Amino acid sequence: MKKVLMLLLMFGLMVGLYGYAEAISGPCSNCHTMHYSQNGGVLSGWGTSGPYEQLLVADCVSCHTGTTGATNPNTNAPAVYHTTAPTGQGPGATLAGGDFYWVDAGSDAYGHNVIDLPNITGQDAAIGLTPPGWDPSATSTNAPTGYGAGQVASAGWTTQLTCAGAYGCHGYHQDPTTGADLSNMGGIKGAHHSNNGTSGWTDGTSLGNSYRFLYGIKGYEDADWQWTADAASDHNEYYGADDTTPVRQADGTYTYQNPDTISFLCAECHGIFHSEIDPDTTSGSPWVRHPTDIALPASGEYANYTSYSLEAPVGRTAAVTGPSGTVTPGTDVVICLSCHRAHGSDQPDLLRWDYSTMQAGTTDSTVAGTGCFTCHTGKDGI
Ligand code: HEC
Ligand code: HEC
Ligand code: HEC
Ligand code: HEC
Ligand code: HEC
Repeated sequence: MKKVLMLLLMFGLMVGLYGYAEAISGPCSNCHTMHYSQNGGVLSGWGTSGPYEQLLVADCVSCHTGTTGATNPNTNAPAVYHTTAPTGQGPGATLAGGDFYWVDAGSDAYGHNVIDLPNITGQDAAIGLTPPGWDPSATSTNAPTGYGAGQVASAGWTTQLTCAGAYGCHGYHQDPTTGADLSNMGGIKGAHHSNNGTSGWTDGTSLGNSYRFLYGIKGYEDADWQWTADAASDHNEYYGADDTTPVRQADGTYTYQNPDTISFLCAECHGIFHSEIDPDTTSGSPWVRHPTDIALPASGEYANYTSYSLEAPVGRTAAVTGPSGTVTPGTDVVICLSCHRAHGSDQPDLLRWDYSTMQAGTTDSTVAGTGCFTCHTGKDGI
């Protein structure tokens, strides 16, 4: 009993002292258990389906679950799944990646159906297991970020999406040495203790130095994951590239892609949506799919997007030391996250705003200038 009390006391202390987004600190016993046993049983703060890999007291989702705040008050991990309905999406409601609340509550289209979530018991009813736009050749030359033949059958997926590992987004998908498929914890192994913390720019050279443990992806990490954010000086910066390669439809090699961008992360599973965006006869507009990793033209309606929007953010094409409130058409790029949240949102297709209100020529002052009109400034009626 004494031991249990001591653990709880140390835990309280650790929570009190803990800062945002630092690499892991605090007593080992807050997060690890050597035998998954205490006084012959399991402590109340532990997950109940252990023992867990890497001797942890819980799984990814339990540590990263919250109620109404930015973090889980027990683990101080950023909360990406809230058990209380968020009041919307964005600062003060969800972290930058959005939230798994809505998809877990039963709305398949409102988030990634990650099997590790408590109420997700099977595949997305409308889509199934295979990501829309899936093309294994989009990334197979980029092991261990790629999902090659033998990892996931090119005909389609037979395994449901997980947080990390072979069928997930975070960490390595395959063991960099042996090429073997990795589990959730196997995929992310070593990342938490080598997190680059608050130092800002992640260069993708190691897992701990990759943007949010997305292996190889670069970016600037906001210290509180945009729980508080303003468009000028307090937000993540996403990495993008201005890809001017023409004739993509016929190019099955994808070698022109920059594998360090946030949109490439999405392309690891939704490759066609990132690659096959222009017809074979011309480069650039007219496009055949909404472009990403393409610079906003410095002319026409796009030239008016000059003040960074948290609702429809752009990517930067070079390393930055801090956030900027300025958008530079001609340089800054469209990214998948200009329109989507990564985890989920209160809108279908994980969108960042209500698509049904986006009506050409609208003079509704609550809609004009928002969402799609952030970039397509000439398409509203104001
Ligand atoms: C706040 C939670 C937390 C604390 C405190 C913590 N760890 Fe961990 N540790 C983790 C998580 C989460 C993982 C698994 C995921 C990963 O490796 O990124 C992990 C993984 C590990 C690993 C395997 C991966 C690696 O980095 O080699 C070792 C070994 C480890 N921890 C040892 C320790 C020791 C020893 C302590 C105390 C001095 C400690 N941990 C304290 C959360 C914690
Ligand atoms: C024992 C609790 C625990 C477990 C289990 C755990 N995490 Fe974490 N995680 C933390 C804490 C605490 C932090 C915040 C400290 C930090 O950023 O390193 C964190 C941070 C993160 C971050 C943000 C890093 C950043 O750059 O801000 C990601 C991404 C993440 N975890 C993913 C995962 C995934 C995926 C798993 C499962 C494979 C997992 N975590 C399992 C406690 C945990
Ligand atoms: C590890 C693979 C993987 C990665 C990486 C990935 N997705 Fe997905 N995505 C899926 C799968 C599988 C589905 C279909 C099942 C589901 O909805 O979860 C899906 C579905 C979607 C949907 C449709 C949701 C619905 O239910 O209608 C959107 C939108 C989406 N993803 C956007 C993104 C964006 C944006 C990124 C990058 C931030 C991304 N995805 C990265 C695997 C992935
Ligand atoms: C972050 C900025 C941004 C946002 C937000 C955005 N777009 Fe775009 N869109 C662009 C850029 C840049 C182009 C390509 C322009 C070019 O190359 O001439 C484009 C191209 C297009 C095109 C094709 C034009 C062509 O030249 O082939 C359509 C249609 C379109 N967008 C619709 C939308 C809709 C609908 C939304 C909202 C769901 C939206 N866009 C949101 C930046 C954006
Ligand atoms: C300009 C805004 C915009 C950008 C940029 C964008 N999407 Fe979408 N996406 C949408 C909208 C709107 C929908 C839903 C309706 C539609 O398809 O028009 C959608 C739907 C999807 C779907 C669901 C398709 C299905 O079959 O149900 C996936 C998956 C997806 N997007 C992934 C991506 C990925 C990956 C990227 C980056 C490579 C990306 N999106 C970039 C706006 C965008």
